[in-house]
Amino acid sequence: MNKRLIRENIYWLGAVDWDRRLFDSLIPLPDGTSYNAYLIEGSEKTALLDTVDPPMEDVLMAQLKGISKIDYMVSHHAEQDHSGTIGRVLEKFPDARLVVTARAKTMLMDLLHIPEDKFLIVDDGQTLSLGDKTLKFIHTPWVHWPETMVTYLEEDRILFSCDFFGSHIATSDLYVTDQCRVYEAAKRYFAEIMMPFGSIIAKNLDKLRDYKIDMIAPSHGQIYDDPAWIIEAYGQWVNGPPKNLVVLPYVSMHGSTRQMVDYLTAALTEKGVRVELFDLPVTDIGKLAMSLVDAATVVVGTPTVLAGPHPAAAYATFLANALRPKTQFLSIIGSYGWGGKTVETLAGMIGNLKVEVIDPVLCKGRPKKDTLDALDNMADAIASKHKEQGLE
Ligand code: FEO
Repeated sequence: MNKRLIRENIYWLGAVDWDRRLFDSLIPLPDGTSYNAYLIEGSEKTALLDTVDPPMEDVLMAQLKGISKIDYMVSHHAEQDHSGTIGRVLEKFPDARLVVTARAKTMLMDLLHIPEDKFLIVDDGQTLSLGDKTLKFIHTPWVHWPETMVTYLEEDRILFSCDFFGSHIATSDLYVTDQCRVYEAAKRYFAEIMMPFGSIIAKNLDKLRDYKIDMIAPSHGQIYDDPAWIIEAYGQWVNGPPKNLVVLPYVSMHGSTRQMVDYLTAALTEKGVRVELFDLPVTDIGKLAMSLVDAATVVVGTPTVLAGPHPAAAYATFLANALRPKTQFLSIIGSYGWGGKTVETLAGMIGNLKVEVIDPVLCKGRPKKDTLDALDNMADAIASKHKEQGLE
């Protein structure tokens, strides 16, 4: 992809990674991704905002051919998908100053061995003039690392937001063309990396309310030329109440736990509670993370194996604990053969979650009437608690 004009003297640069299917060796990328950098040519100075993931550095370097000078490189975030090509760019433009938060400076020195004399530290709210264009740096920590900031281009009212508001989509469309598709991808991205820092994200959103923003240019996915809806969506994700939804990640070895899952799903549905099931051995964990953004209740379904929860259920529980969703209620259902410590093991893995635990339902072998009655009681309890909270 060649560089593309956004506004007069403002360009998208970067690489579209059509084939990537996993990020951080953890996060599924069903639609690939992009690493967006931006070039701003002021009347006196030129700035490059972020770079690209190292495997695609040649793409960025080709786009920089013909650029005679870069005075400033702004690094919003030290993670290597945006910072990893800084060293190569500095080799070509050795006089460029690297504009960062104080925390990013130490991180980039550690991660990329950038020499100390290259850095220009900027405070929260500080501006930098490029002549006829002014960059204002807004510190937005924990989006999703501690050093993160965004840049507001005052004259053009463009927010360069890096990971904030980003979405993992590979596309040739520069701007959002399918709002539903981007909503889902952005929510997936929020759920996977930002949800654990929801309260700080809310403060960062509040900070941005002071700015008139005509466009948001993130470092993954498409540019928002009508950004109000994605700001509103983030507000809902971090500040909105959970929904009348039970998320039910489960695994079943011989069908008994699945029978319990199906029975509970039917009982909850009859009582007007929505349910989303995730068969863990084959599920896309990004989809599960997205559902956790909204779920008032999580019920983990697991057989007992090796005297504890199935490893797939333990993984999902560990992940949910790490993602810190707004979930209010949690329980466990499942079948065992002769004994074990499934409930105790899972209960020890949810220390981050501020949840009320609803009595688990475990049964020996195939569920009989007493187990099904207990699942009816569980459905009653969940429906009542959702109603008491006024969840929709
Ligand atoms: Fe897109 Fe946190 O890096």
